[in-house]
Amino acid sequence: MAASLTHEKLSELGLIHRTDESKAWFARANKVLAGGISSSARASTTGDLPYPLYITRGAGSHIWDADGNEFIDYLLSYGSVILGHQDAGLKSAITAQLDAGTMFGTCNTIEVQLAEQICRMVPGVDLVRFSNSGSEAICGAVRAARGFTSKTKILKFEGHYHGWVDVLAISNRPAAAESGPLDHPASQPHSRGIPQGIVNDVIIAPWNHRRQVENILDQFESDLAAIVLEPVVANNACTMPEPGFLEFLREQCTRRKLLLIYDEIVTGFRLARGGAAEYFGVIPDLMIWSKAIGGGFPISAFGGRRDVMLPVAANTVKHGGTYNGNPLCAAAALETLRRLGEPGTLEAIQNHGDGLIEAIKRSAHDLHVPCCVQGTGTMFQLVFTDDGQPLRHYRDILKANSARYGVFRQALLEMGVHINNSGSACWFVSAAHGANDAAGGFDLAHTRSAIERAMRACA
Ligand SMILES: Cc1ncc(COP(=O)(O)O)c(C=O)c1O
Repeated sequence: MAASLTHEKLSELGLIHRTDESKAWFARANKVLAGGISSSARASTTGDLPYPLYITRGAGSHIWDADGNEFIDYLLSYGSVILGHQDAGLKSAITAQLDAGTMFGTCNTIEVQLAEQICRMVPGVDLVRFSNSGSEAICGAVRAARGFTSKTKILKFEGHYHGWVDVLAISNRPAAAESGPLDHPASQPHSRGIPQGIVNDVIIAPWNHRRQVENILDQFESDLAAIVLEPVVANNACTMPEPGFLEFLREQCTRRKLLLIYDEIVTGFRLARGGAAEYFGVIPDLMIWSKAIGGGFPISAFGGRRDVMLPVAANTVKHGGTYNGNPLCAAAALETLRRLGEPGTLEAIQNHGDGLIEAIKRSAHDLHVPCCVQGTGTMFQLVFTDDGQPLRHYRDILKANSARYGVFRQALLEMGVHINNSGSACWFVSAAHGANDAAGGFDLAHTRSAIERAMRACA
């Protein structure tokens, strides 16, 4: 897997001189794809290059672009490819399903086994429903919450991301000038085209600020159906909940009869086998999963407490979809969860990540670069804050040194280490990076030395 990737080869700087194929593909794409891309997020994944890298192959923890440049992949399709690329077990599960047929539009036995597996792995889950992307599952959970409570408004936190669809694409990343006072942040649509009526139904609060949250809840309690949140804010550089904050939200929701919803689209089956619910030991009423659940196949789910999901079961809250629970993606998810459930899989992922975090902290310390690392070994991000302190909430990241992150990220890319171009996103580790994998030792050693050199580049 790591056969062609050597320290010497990756040390040659000047990716711009080695990516002519990507450049040509982007020119071609621009003629037929709006903006040359298939998702707005990809507009910002290019870093210093004036075009994206076109990745044509992946194996284990490595990916190759159209010019044959090889990278250790810590983007992992935003954390989805948790077993690594072309995992042998996943390949055989999928191949068996291809042989049996991929889609019938009927009930199938694999979706049942997958739902059973989720209910076994995640605390507080009695009933689930499948869909195909995170955004779709968000829509399902929000509708379920509104249907159960007969209330309309949803409280979300500034800087948390819950998909591109209208329902919660509010105040994802507002500019400082537009975000209003901290005590009562403004609801800012993330895009043109979102109706004002939807914006008005989303109340924004500052993460990790109890007094402000309590005041906002006092004001809107009678209209609120739910509080929704990213338990580790993957879209805000893995900002963690301060100790007691999730417990505080749980208590507020219970007392005020609101639902607590965890968006576990990133954290699910990654932070721990039972996701953030298990990791923090604070159980929400509803959860939403995607990414890691499918090991790289498009599948998502929402689910939770029996009584909250009963209107969905009774079909008074409608939820549908042609591709929901299709056997191909369900088979991929079943195999992925089976493997993540095995002792040692998540631990190896965690260990590899811990080794990288340690390298970042050590080189930042040695080179006197103020920097903090947030998250856990399975998903984390470094942030160049002036005082080296972790972020508390969204507005802190606006003050971080994004130019320094850009230099650091580009230096890593030049050395064959592929991470998200956005400093608000995270590094993801897969089982293929883990210490038990043949390439694991190489990945760790190479990435650690690249980190040290990238830190030097931005010191
Ligand atoms: C926390 C979170 N929620 C929701 C979504 C939306 O998922 P999708 O892109 O599959 O629609 C994302 C995507 O990155 C996410 O990170």
